[in-house]
Amino acid sequence: MEPLRNGGKNSQKPPDDDPSEIFLPSPAGRKMEKNNLPCRTITIVVIVVTILAALLALTIGLLVWHFHLRTESRVKKVISGSMTISNQRFSDSYEDSNSRQFKELALRVSEQMKGIYSHSPVLSKYYVKSSVQAFSESSDNNVIAYYLSEFSVPVAQSSAVDKAINSPEEAVGPKQGRMRLSLGRKPGSILVIDKMMSGAVDARLVNATSRRHYKNAHHSHMGELGTIESPGFPNFHYPPNVYVEWQLRADPAHRIRLEFTALHLEKDCNNDFIKIYDSLVPTEKQVIAEKCGYYTPNEQLIYLSSGNVMLVTLVTNREKNFPGFRATYSQVPVKSQECGGKLTGMNGTFTSPGFPSRYPPQIQCVWDIEVPAGKHVKVKFSKFSLHEPQQNSHHCTKDYLEINNNRMCGEKSTSTVHSSRTNQITVKFYSDMSYVDQGFSAEFEAFEPNDPCPGKFQCDNDVCVNPKLKCDGYDDCGDMSDEKNCVCEEFHVKCRNGFCKPKFWHCDGVNDCGDNTDEENCGHCKAGEVACRNGRCVPEYKKCDGHNDCGDGTDESECPKSVVLRCSEYTYKCKNNTCISKQNPQCDGEQDCEDGSDEADCECGTRPYKSSRIVGGEESSEGEWPWQVSLHMKGQGHVCGASVISNLWLVTAAHCVQDTEKLMYSQPGQWEAYLGLLTQGKASTSTVQKSVKQIISHPEYNPKTYDNDIALMELDSPVNFNQNIWPICLPAASHEFSAGQAVWITGWGTTREDGSLASVLQKAEVRIINDTVCNQLMNDEITPRMICAGVLAGGVDACQGDSGGPMSSVDPDSGRLFLAGVVSWGDGCGRKNRPGVYTRVTKYRSWIQEESGV
Ligand code: ARG
Repeated sequence: MEPLRNGGKNSQKPPDDDPSEIFLPSPAGRKMEKNNLPCRTITIVVIVVTILAALLALTIGLLVWHFHLRTESRVKKVISGSMTISNQRFSDSYEDSNSRQFKELALRVSEQMKGIYSHSPVLSKYYVKSSVQAFSESSDNNVIAYYLSEFSVPVAQSSAVDKAINSPEEAVGPKQGRMRLSLGRKPGSILVIDKMMSGAVDARLVNATSRRHYKNAHHSHMGELGTIESPGFPNFHYPPNVYVEWQLRADPAHRIRLEFTALHLEKDCNNDFIKIYDSLVPTEKQVIAEKCGYYTPNEQLIYLSSGNVMLVTLVTNREKNFPGFRATYSQVPVKSQECGGKLTGMNGTFTSPGFPSRYPPQIQCVWDIEVPAGKHVKVKFSKFSLHEPQQNSHHCTKDYLEINNNRMCGEKSTSTVHSSRTNQITVKFYSDMSYVDQGFSAEFEAFEPNDPCPGKFQCDNDVCVNPKLKCDGYDDCGDMSDEKNCVCEEFHVKCRNGFCKPKFWHCDGVNDCGDNTDEENCGHCKAGEVACRNGRCVPEYKKCDGHNDCGDGTDESECPKSVVLRCSEYTYKCKNNTCISKQNPQCDGEQDCEDGSDEADCECGTRPYKSSRIVGGEESSEGEWPWQVSLHMKGQGHVCGASVISNLWLVTAAHCVQDTEKLMYSQPGQWEAYLGLLTQGKASTSTVQKSVKQIISHPEYNPKTYDNDIALMELDSPVNFNQNIWPICLPAASHEFSAGQAVWITGWGTTREDGSLASVLQKAEVRIINDTVCNQLMNDEITPRMICAGVLAGGVDACQGDSGGPMSSVDPDSGRLFLAGVVSWGDGCGRKNRPGVYTRVTKYRSWIQEESGV
């Protein structure tokens, strides 16, 4: 086992695997006695032997009975909890579990736990023992004690005891009032218990018998940043079968702020996991978060405690060990997350406490917003994420936001708007005792009651959208109100759901209407049938039934479970050369290939911030597109974009690396690659500049038609990934990016057709355009190795200088980003009915593998 790091400044306790630890089974006691028989007469011997035989039979019977009833059918239950001792002043020595003061007070408290449980008829019968785990300082300078209590319960009583454990305040504790514990050993010395909070301990902790336990304690001080990490990190994987805990304390009136800088555990939380508690003992009612699996450093995982303590625990099982985690802790004044209050003016912003960190548990805020008289007010969200296990978004009983008595929780799209018919609005935020999320970031704005969307179209849900988007065939409002009551033109298909879609999309095999109207009556398949890619039709109900009814897997390609099929251009090929039906099985978190190869090498494509030119785009934030590279020509500055696909290789466009009469663009020595860059000329600490060792342009690149416009660049040395540098996933050859799907394009290219380069990395959302349509719009210049994307109304596009850069597609299942295209060419920039043309990366999957090994 790797050495375990222990303790911070205030931790005197050596790593301990104390067998008296309450999670471990107490050693089974056994007594053996020897008897010597005196021998006088045979008669006596016979009598004695007879009696002994009888006794032996009785003993065996009793033992069997005892064993059966006592040992076999008892289960161990553990309660953890805390209580405030309101007549005991805190002193620093209580933080050191080896100090005399700690031991004395711990003894007094645990002796009295028995008294407390005696109030519960259910619990008192099965009580075994209690042990104090820690003390901390309450806001009014008193002592808070944290304890574990063990019970040995007959299986038959198990559920009754669980009930008592989960409402222990009812069963054993004082509800609101105070409880006085008179101490038997020291008459007159009384502990006054004020607040008691307790609950069951995670069964995964109680039941593991062979785990080694380690404890660490740290006290954070103002202005200092401490570090905790899993044993062996970062040099070794964490050890098997351990329970490690880190008790973190801060001064009164402060919170603990915990930020994970690395987290890589086994994927299945049933095996290895981290749990963070808003306490110093693992009380399930006070879990702040449970984590396992892998997180990139740029997914800000920051937690705040409600009080001045936090407990971090790591539990591992026997199999499969991973690198583990590292986190920093510090203390922040409670005041700094104060929330609520009165907001006035024409507009303003407010967020959940601590945003973009996770909000602390047990917090409540009320904002009273008032805009000038005569105006109305609306509240918009740029982020809204209030998830909690066992809470669905229709029934917000745990954490919620309330606007004018309307409760919201779960995830809301950024277009959510709430408005009031007066100049006032009240917003309430509530977080309960357990589980937290990122919260929200909101903006309020005054508007004229008779013109809520100046210059824009007003959706039914009060969202305002660009009027150009009305009747464009896409649901831009989020409630489809921009696509209702549209008069379809003669070149439109009228969809049943009211959408108008271009007629040339009719019967092209893509469900453009969304309700399939445009793909019905296409000669062969009837309504209620699925059109297979091979031309067959099968009844709709055969979809996802686990049988390959089409014969080419179409009917099984968009299902949760994959079936194994004969390989074709539509099937995903696993490493073991079997083929499966699921359309995009790569890195979706579900193992589809028998050999697991669809989930191998899945560090790519995870994305930093979920926040929201290129032409018609907006500025990106730092780390938002960590695969984006700026390629500079020596003496020329930025020329092209590229994407990071591994720590050594970039993908760019072939037309970026062709020699001209004057400049040798094909020479590696001429190029400098900037990785992790946001603003040209402004390198940050995570920006890395690399020289290029090798350029491999596609051998069949055609400079006239731009066919095969793709090239690989090898860096002169491997780059270390960081917050702002991370590879994007390469899609498998069978990966489908369907028409109508939204994708992102990014780059420092010009922001107008004849404009100048952007200095801050621009991003824009465009949609994939179906091949037939694009070919018609682009004079038949689209080859099967190209993919089009844009906004047909114009105004949003890539432009000069964006070439080589990524078209990034978010996979809806996994949230990962895949390189769908490489910026290649266009007719001008952002013109109406002139989409951008991109190199279709799926066509080059094996070429990339052969040339770079990626
Ligand atoms: N060829 C251009 C470049 O070198 C990219 C053009 C992309 N144009 C467009 N309208 N999408 O940067």
